[in-house]
Amino acid sequence: MANEKIPVEALSEEQAAAELAFLAAEVARHDELYHGKDQPEISDADYDAMKRRNDAIEARFPALVRDDSPSRRVGAAPLATFAPIMHARPMLSLDNTFSDEDVRDFIASVYRFLGRLPDDSIAFTAEPKIDGLSMSIRYENGRLVNAATRGDGTTGENVTANILTIAEIPKRLPAGAPAIAEVRGEVYMAKSDFQALNAQMAAEGKQTYVNPRNTAAGSLRQLDPTVTASRKLRFFAYAWGEMSEMPADTQFGMVQALKSWGFPVNPLMKRLFNVDAIIAHYREIGLERPDLDYDIDGVVYKVDQLDLQARLGFRSRSPRWATAHKFPAEQALTTLTAIDIQVGRTGALTPVARLEPVTVGGVVVTNATLHNEDYIRGLGNSGEPIRDGRDIRVGDVVIVQRAGDVIPQIVDIVPEKRPPEAVPYEFPKTCPVCGSHAVRDIHEKTGKVDAVRRCTGGFVCRAQAVEHLKHFVSRNAYDIEGLGSKQIDFFFEADDPALSIRTAPDIFTLERRQEASLTKLENIDGFGRVSVRKLFEAINARRTVALNRFIYALGIRHVGETTAKLLARAYGTYTAFEAGMKEAAPLSGDAWNDLNNIDGIGEVVARAIVEFYKEPRNLDVIERLLAEVTPEAAEVPVASDSPVAGKTVVFTGSLEKMTRDEAKAMAERLGAKVSGSVSKKTDLVVAGPGAGSKLEKAREFGVEVIDEDAWLERVKA
Ligand code: IVH
Repeated sequence: MANEKIPVEALSEEQAAAELAFLAAEVARHDELYHGKDQPEISDADYDAMKRRNDAIEARFPALVRDDSPSRRVGAAPLATFAPIMHARPMLSLDNTFSDEDVRDFIASVYRFLGRLPDDSIAFTAEPKIDGLSMSIRYENGRLVNAATRGDGTTGENVTANILTIAEIPKRLPAGAPAIAEVRGEVYMAKSDFQALNAQMAAEGKQTYVNPRNTAAGSLRQLDPTVTASRKLRFFAYAWGEMSEMPADTQFGMVQALKSWGFPVNPLMKRLFNVDAIIAHYREIGLERPDLDYDIDGVVYKVDQLDLQARLGFRSRSPRWATAHKFPAEQALTTLTAIDIQVGRTGALTPVARLEPVTVGGVVVTNATLHNEDYIRGLGNSGEPIRDGRDIRVGDVVIVQRAGDVIPQIVDIVPEKRPPEAVPYEFPKTCPVCGSHAVRDIHEKTGKVDAVRRCTGGFVCRAQAVEHLKHFVSRNAYDIEGLGSKQIDFFFEADDPALSIRTAPDIFTLERRQEASLTKLENIDGFGRVSVRKLFEAINARRTVALNRFIYALGIRHVGETTAKLLARAYGTYTAFEAGMKEAAPLSGDAWNDLNNIDGIGEVVARAIVEFYKEPRNLDVIERLLAEVTPEAAEVPVASDSPVAGKTVVFTGSLEKMTRDEAKAMAERLGAKVSGSVSKKTDLVVAGPGAGSKLEKAREFGVEVIDEDAWLERVKA
């Protein structure tokens, strides 16, 4: 456009009107190219320059501001970076074991759960735990159709284009493979490829990468697959998701089938029959670890027979039939330079060690947890001396330990190196953020003094309020992209009413407050036009949210993800949940019993929820939140065609064909709720020999009672 370069001060009114018309059309076109087609023609900087010029002209000619001006419009819907993919079967994680004893317990628990199987009759597989990223790759009629990261276990990110660049991953399956096959395993970068990449980066004067795992993750999360292709990534297959046909009936056999389809599988996998052989294999893999060309962080044990795996089933996040035996943590020596106190969401004061930077197992560590004040003083959880009673002081040379993804911790000090001027650490008795008293509660049940000192400031404590918000937007809660810890700090500190976010509902009113205000977020350092637009999109995308996420996000003490899921499942809708909580009073009444009878929810948790709903501030926040967002009704769990789906079942007396745990897990798998006590709401009581008071109660309430055989017949097991 000819007059584009004329300084704004020199524009005539006519020229200004013409240019504003041009800019309105042009910005709209680029919005569409950028957001709608993902094919921008100009750089962000050029785009921003156009918008700035538009603003400058409007500032000089306010009467000429157009209805369709870019200054008044929010852009087209942005494309999320990677599209979400819902896993056909959830991708679970593994429980960890750290000692030989833990492993014996795991094996024993498998035998106990299944009941009455002779010693050494259950086979286990043992294979290295690869330190990479888990991936689910789906094939339909032999063709690779998509690939997704684990994500939150239910939904992952679609990284198909990037996975297609990995040479080791077959793009087609041989004839005879099932029509639908989801192959799962670990994407990783070989140590040798990592070193070569870093040598090249160093030679080019570029910053080198930290470790193979992070580099593999970064490579996979490239939006441009040519970048992924330039990094050498590899794959080990060790599991599967949906399969239209099963090629084998054991873990070992399945992995052999994956191998025959062309997938790399780990050569160190073995099938073993007892604890001693399993532990011996663990030691052997540990010895080979430094010579392997890939990082491993432990050995995974799995029950070999798939029918036994099915009987064992899952806990909330991990299978009962598998565990990861981690290698011992790595340690290093460094100096403790300071102890800072962080105040968490529930007011807990956590001491954090600031350290001279030190490399522990390939990662530079500068902070570590010190747990609580007793720990610093050299006292364990029951007041017993730990580290021979040695305390930890600023200035001490300390032993830092890091195990996998766990936060590094200080395990001991080197007494000979203590500087003479070092003094015992004095733990604060007031909150370092709000100044309120910080106290150690007495545990309601045990009467013991809690290890954790807590700020009593509640809502007046900025630290608690800000941590609450961070929890609210965190990955397993509202998971709002673009609203991380840094941004929350910014919005929380902002005093301008058009910018400030102090409680969760403020997140959802931000866009409206922005529209009505002249303080524009996009003009603030660190935001910019595109990121603001994406932020509002991400916020709006969360106006409906799963009930369990909603409950978890509220940040009720003791209510983690698992408890939130139990509550969502038990109450179905938020309205029912809130009504129940408001009605419930500890230790008596139907509403309390309904809550306390949910399997997996104990008295301490139940009390915490009921207390949360007694606090008017909480009710106010929830009410304002519900004006903005809608929690979805919880889905009725799985197998709705099973005859016991949605029924409340109580098992009592002894069972003979299965253990109590197995019976309970089976009922839950079929969509039933298992309760520990009989009430009017119980639908079915399964009574074995020796049943007593529960059976009587069932008769009294007229609840249907059947025996174990009738139960098995009913569920056709
Ligand atoms: S089995 C249902 N086998 O470890 C269990 N996982 O902590 C599915 N991993 O998310 C996992 N090597 O990313 C399994 N040989 C192996 C593994 C392995 C690495 C990872 C995987 C998983 C995580 C669980």
